[in-house]
Amino acid sequence: MFRARTVVRGVMNWNFEEIQETVCKEVAGVLADQELEALRVKYLGRKGLIQEIYASLPTLSNDQKPLVGKKANELRNEITQLIDDRKIILKEKQKKSSHKSIDVTIPGVSSTIGHTHILTQTINEICLAFENLGFVVADGPEIETEFNNFTALNIPIDHPSRDAFDTFYLEEPDPNNKGRYLLLRSHTSPGQIRIMKDMTPPLAVIIPGKVYRPDAVDASHSFMFHQIEGLLVDKDVKFSDLKGLLTAFCKRLFGEKIKMRFRPHFFPFTEPSAEVDISCYICDGKGCSVCGRKGWLEIMGCGMVHPKVFEACGYPKGKYTGLAFGLGVERITMLKYGINDIRLFFENDQRFLNQF
Ligand code: DAH
Repeated sequence: MFRARTVVRGVMNWNFEEIQETVCKEVAGVLADQELEALRVKYLGRKGLIQEIYASLPTLSNDQKPLVGKKANELRNEITQLIDDRKIILKEKQKKSSHKSIDVTIPGVSSTIGHTHILTQTINEICLAFENLGFVVADGPEIETEFNNFTALNIPIDHPSRDAFDTFYLEEPDPNNKGRYLLLRSHTSPGQIRIMKDMTPPLAVIIPGKVYRPDAVDASHSFMFHQIEGLLVDKDVKFSDLKGLLTAFCKRLFGEKIKMRFRPHFFPFTEPSAEVDISCYICDGKGCSVCGRKGWLEIMGCGMVHPKVFEACGYPKGKYTGLAFGLGVERITMLKYGINDIRLFFENDQRFLNQF
């Protein structure tokens, strides 16, 4: 602590210049915040030097009091300024040294970038193939009405697919149809109804999406899977248009060499109806374990839109004809890549997914 250098008439006389010089040196030598704080306490604190000087004022003569008081104030302001300036300098230094501590040569932490799931890839590929043929991609809700999922598609009330063993019914009643319940759509065909209720032909849409059925999960069944629905309605659409369109599509997806055939079938919402087979790409049609020795692989259902479906959508009788088709995305993907278990798509095992 600074003491009086000279005693004038028995009163302590403070050597302000020397104090100021000393503080200046001390502050300039400070390297850490704590040291600076210690200096602040030493000079400006309640028991610090400045307070000591103020405390000595009553002992001074009346003409000295204001002089010493003024000097003490100036000294207090100077010390405050010195400490504040040093604080800023220390902060800058800290900033610079923390920059220096980044070692840019250390290899970074790389995060893996995901990629499109193989099912989405197949959906995109199929949609693009139809978009190139003039179709527009549309969307439909996964929660459907019984009317759209069954009734409008000419599926009779006693059809087995309407049974609760084959369709997930929700507890929510259909707000527009008392006594009926909403359900998880069991196929993408209700998308046809929504489009036709909304649009006037000509129209050509492709509707991909999830569908649900209460099947026990095994290598070829899943309670949720994906379908793609196609619908084209205009005046004078013919069965030959359907065959030409699907032949072009199969060649595009499976290669020019692939053969395709229509096998007669029944669907309530199309008449006539057919299932589409392609020649087995493994054995080239000769018969193998993949095609069950048949030489053919079933890939989708199709047909000409049933007049009752047009009627349910409010289209004038006899005005339009249309073609429709529906395919299973998992099945096509399994055939295309030789995958033998549907569960692989949904287990999220990176070793499987990263192959595609
Ligand atoms: N909805 C049918 C199913 O889930 C698939 C289907 C067959 C869709 C024929 C169609 C069609 O549009 O014409 O099995």
